[in-house]
Amino acid sequence: MSDLVTEYNGRLEKVTTMFTAEQIQARIKALGEEISRDYQGKEVVAVAVLKGSVPFFADLIRAMELPGLSCDFLGLSSYGSRTETSGVVRLTSDLSRPVVDKHVLVIEDIVDTGLTMQYLLENLATRKPASVRICTLLHKPANERVSVPLDYIGFTIENEFVVGYGLDYDERYRQLPFIGVMRFEDL
Ligand code: IMP
Repeated sequence: MSDLVTEYNGRLEKVTTMFTAEQIQARIKALGEEISRDYQGKEVVAVAVLKGSVPFFADLIRAMELPGLSCDFLGLSSYGSRTETSGVVRLTSDLSRPVVDKHVLVIEDIVDTGLTMQYLLENLATRKPASVRICTLLHKPANERVSVPLDYIGFTIENEFVVGYGLDYDERYRQLPFIGVMRFEDL
């Protein structure tokens, strides 16, 4: 059964729901409470990794009760095919302010091979923050090539290509309110 079928470039793209909008919001509420407890009284910089984490970031920061919270953004891209990373990561846009002595909470959409987060952790370490933690909405452990410490995980998933709620296939499907598995069929 498919929840969304799109004809594109001579193929059918089928997206089948994995997590509904309600399931995502319930998990974010719990994550927000956990993060708020852990960071009580601290100055936290929530860092959204563009572009995929934008919907998750927007919902998660509103689920946290942290008066000392500030927000910043950075862009990372990894070259590769449409559904597989090459592992060559580069910074496409940087934070707007230094994070020296700040508690940095990186907010990511998905950790797959781990190469993107490994690159980011090494990059952030040079900026002398007080601490760095990672919160990822999804974790795909089957594809792990390097082990990175994931402090908060929304959902652990099988080795499927997923789209929606920020995640894209060739820049499309980010706007879906749910997360679905993407499959293709020739016409
Ligand atoms: P990495 O393999 O952990 O370095 O992940 C690199 C990036 O690949 C993630 O930040 C996502 O943007 C993208 N990615 C990995 N798996 C998926 C997926 O299933 N759907 C959409 N994007 C993905």
